[in-house]
Amino acid sequence: MKPLLGTLCLLGMLVHSGLGHHRSLVQQTQKLVDTTVTPWRSLETYSYNKYHRMEEIYQWMSQISEKYPDVVTQHFLGMTYETRPMYYLKISQPSDNTKKIIWMDCGIHAREWIAPAFCQWFVKEILQNYRDNSRIRRLLTYLDFYVLPVLNIDGYIYTWTTDRLWRKSRSSHDDGACFGTDLNRNFNSSWCSIGASKNCLDETFCGAGPVSEPETKAVSGLIESKKEDVLCFLTIHSYGQLILTPYGYTKNKSSNHEELIQVGQKAANALKAKHGTNYRVGASADILYALSGSSRDWAKDIGIPFAYTFELRDNGTYQFVLPEDQIQDTCEETMEAVLSILDDVYAKYWHSNSAGRVTSTTVALSLLVAFMSLF
Ligand SMILES: *[C@@H]1O[C@H](CO)[C@@H](O)[C@H](O)[C@H]1NC(C)=O
Ligand SMILES: *[C@@H]1O[C@H](CO)[C@@H](O)[C@H](O)[C@H]1NC(C)=O
Ligand SMILES: *[C@@H]1O[C@H](CO)[C@@H](O)[C@H](O)[C@H]1NC(C)=O
Ligand SMILES: [Zn+2]
Repeated sequence: MKPLLGTLCLLGMLVHSGLGHHRSLVQQTQKLVDTTVTPWRSLETYSYNKYHRMEEIYQWMSQISEKYPDVVTQHFLGMTYETRPMYYLKISQPSDNTKKIIWMDCGIHAREWIAPAFCQWFVKEILQNYRDNSRIRRLLTYLDFYVLPVLNIDGYIYTWTTDRLWRKSRSSHDDGACFGTDLNRNFNSSWCSIGASKNCLDETFCGAGPVSEPETKAVSGLIESKKEDVLCFLTIHSYGQLILTPYGYTKNKSSNHEELIQVGQKAANALKAKHGTNYRVGASADILYALSGSSRDWAKDIGIPFAYTFELRDNGTYQFVLPEDQIQDTCEETMEAVLSILDDVYAKYWHSNSAGRVTSTTVALSLLVAFMSLF
C-alpha cells in the first residue's frame, strides 16, 4: 500500500468507525494527518475497474453524495457486529411525484467482490447519465433507488486483511469458538428449515435465531418500514451467472412466478446481447439449490412484488476471485439486465397497473352513478 493511500485509508476507518476505540490507530493516524495536505483521491480518478477496500468505499460514498447533493443522499442504516456504520445511498430526483422504491444490496457474502463493484458501477452510471439519458430520466421520475454497496462490511474487511474466501459475517458464537453467520440464511423466511446449518462452524450457519444479526436487522427494519413502497428487491452475489427468483425454501411457486420468470428471462437476454454471456433464469429451489432464510424470499414474503438474486460472473473458472480485467464487462452487462428489469417494473406499475386501476375505478364509479340516477 502506498503511504499516502495508507494514511487516508486509516483516516477513513477512523472517521467512519466514529468511535475512536482503536487507540494505536488513532495515534498512527494523528501522526500522519499532519503530513497530509490534499484529499487522498478525487472522485474523478476513482477506478470502477478495480476492487476497493472498505475505507475507500466509505470515502467514495461520501464524495459521491457531496458531488451530487441534489440527487444522492447518504443514510445511516445501522451498525455492524464490529460497530462499523452501514450506509445506503438514496438516489432520488427531486419532484412532487409519489415515488416507489427499488432496493439493491451488494456484498452480503464477503468474498463476492464483484458485487460491491457492481453496486458502485450502478450508482456511477445512474449519476453520469440521468440528465441526458431519457431511459434513466424516465425511471427516476417515479422511482427512487436505494443502494447498499456493502452489506457485510465486517466480512468484506476480513477478506482484505485475513481470508480472501471468507463468506459470513464476523459475529462470535459459542463463546468465541467460531465466527460468522451466513447473513443470507438469517432472514425471517422459513428460517433454518432447509439448506442452512445450525452449526456455527459451517459456511451456511443460520445464526442464533431469525434476524439475530445486526446487519440483517438493519436491512429488514428499513425494508419492513417501507414495504408498501418497495416495488423491487435486488440482491447481488457471485458466482454462477444466474438470475434467481423466489423461492429457495420451497418448490412452491410464488404468486407471480410466471411474471418474474418472464421479466428475468428478458433481462438475461439483454445481458447476453452486451457481451455474449449466458445466464440461466429460474427459482432458486429449481435451478440452484434449496435454501432458507434468504433476503430475497423474505422480501417476497412481506409482499414486495419483484424480488431477484443475481449471481454474477463467472461460471466456475475464477469463482469468487474474478480478475479485475473482467469487472468492466461484468458491470456493463449486468447494468443491461438491471435496466431491463427496471423498465418492466416501471411499465407494469405505471402503465398497466395504475392506469388499469384508474380505469376500472372510473368505470365502476360511473356505473354506480348511472345506477343511482335511476332512483
Ligand atoms: C418472523 O415472521 C413471522 C411471521 O411470518 C413473525 O410472526 C415473527 O415474529 C417474525 N420473527 C422475527 C424475529 O422477526
Ligand atoms: C406449499 O404448498 C402446499 C399446498 O398449497 C402447502 O400445503 C405447503 O405448506 C406449502 N409449503 C411451503 C413451505 O410454503
Ligand atoms: C462457462 O464458461 C465457459 C468458458 O467461457 C464456457 O465454455 C461454458 O460453456 C460455460 N458454461 C456455462 C454453463 O455457461
Ligand atoms: Zn452469495
